[in-house]
Order: sequence, then structure tokens, then C-alpha cells
Amino acid sequence: MENILKAENISREFKIGDGSVVHALTNIDLDVNEGELVCLRGRSGSGKTTLINILGALDRQDGGTVTFCGEDIGKLSDAARDKLRRKKLSFVFQSVALISTMTALENVEFSLRLAGYPIAGRTKRAKECLARVGLAKRMYHRPGEMSGGEQQRVAIARAVAHKPKIIFADEPTAALDSTTGTAVLGLFRELVRDDGITVVMTTHDEAMMELADVVYSLEDGVIVDIKRNDIPL
Ligand SMILES: Nc1ncnc2c1ncn2[C@@H]1O[C@H](COP(=O)(O)OP(=O)(O)O)[C@@H](O)[C@H]1O
Ligand SMILES: [Mg+2]
Repeated sequence: MENILKAENISREFKIGDGSVVHALTNIDLDVNEGELVCLRGRSGSGKTTLINILGALDRQDGGTVTFCGEDIGKLSDAARDKLRRKKLSFVFQSVALISTMTALENVEFSLRLAGYPIAGRTKRAKECLARVGLAKRMYHRPGEMSGGEQQRVAIARAVAHKPKIIFADEPTAALDSTTGTAVLGLFRELVRDDGITVVMTTHDEAMMELADVVYSLEDGVIVDIKRNDIPL
């Protein structure tokens, strides 16, 4: 399998008000292969969000390199990183962040526009993605007219629509009840298996430990364990 994302010796520290320093990440090495579901787990405060934000070019590391498709993204300008995020990456967060005045369909179409997807194909592609996440019947609903799980499915449809190389998901099920959360995790697993998508996700949902291809465990900003699952297709 081909490597598409590589982190080498990443460190990140935060200086806080009283002059002290928090070592949020130390000596992180991590590899993501195309078509894998990679999970970062660890207690609250262990560095998951800091790491996923650096991998997704939302934040810059203090030391080490992040290589995406062979390119050292730390060397890119802020504008080039913006463009990379819009075109090749995508994000799903704990708080769903849909635009409340737009229908599900309009939300997905709008993100296709931001990604520069050709205008002629936007509606068709948006409908196809909403159908893919099981929301064919909710296309014309606004976020306020959908359940939490349905809203997160719209966010996933939006995340896959422009065919990104990687989807980053930071605790996408944390705000959902466990049944709904499990269904959302199953959807990620299906997208990886059937559509060849690559996902990097943080979670403390134990169900994910079985569903992921690789699980990295973090403690106090350090990777303490790497577990590879043999997932039957
Ligand atoms: N902007 C920041 N300023 C100062 N400290 C931060 C900041 N962001 C994160 N931290 C600290 O870095 C550590 C890792 O945080 P985080 O990556 O959010 O962990 P997790 O997502 O695993 O809960 C924590 O100790 C947290 O307090
Ligand atoms: Mg976090």
C-alpha cells in the first residue's frame, strides 16, 4: 500500500500565561497508507487534537516534518496550505458546523464550490454523496430539521464530496449517543472499504479500536503503542 502521509519526529509546545511550557507532542512518528482507517486514541489532554491539526495543515509543528504525497507541507506558505486543505483534504469535527440556513443539499453543494468542483456537476455529486450516507430522503431538510446523527452524516457527505485524499475526523462521535455513534463509525469503515477513502480519526470510542486498520495510542503527547488490525474485507 502506498504511503500518503508521514509524520517524522513531530513536536509541538505551547507557552502559557505564567511562562511555563506544555509539551503537547514529543517525537511523534506516524504513517498513513492510502485506503486505511487510522485511529488516534488517548485520554483527554493526550495530544490527539494537536496532532490531527498538524497532520491536516491547520496548525504548524515546532519540530519535525509532515510529508503529504511526497511533499514537505511545513515548507508551504500559508496560502499554499489553505489551497491544499480546500482541494485535497477535508475535516469532520465533533461539533458538526453545518450552515443552519442551508438545506443538506445546499451545504454539500456549497463545500463543492469552495473546493473548486466544476459547477455543472455539483448538484449531481452532492445528491450522490447524500444518498451514499443514507440521506436521500433528507436532502431538502435544514440542520435544525435533522437529528444529531443525520447532521453528522451530512458533514460526512460534505467531507467526501470533493474526493479528498484524506479525511481528518476529530472525535466525530463524541456528541452522539452510542448507537448513533456506532452507526457513524460504521459509515466511515464502509467508505474506507468500498470507496477507497483514507481516514485519520481521533476517538475514545472503544468500538473504533476494532474497526480501524491501525490504532496509535497517545499518552502525554507521546505514542506509547501502535496496533495493526487485520480487517477482513
Ligand atoms: N492552544 C493551546 N494553548 C496551550 N495549551 C494547549 C493548547 N492546545 C492544547 N494545549 C495543551 O496540549 C495538551 C494536548 O491537548 P489536545 O491536543 O487538545 O488533547 P486531546 O485532543 O487529546 O484532548 C493539553 O495539555 C492541552 O492543555
Ligand atoms: Mg481533542
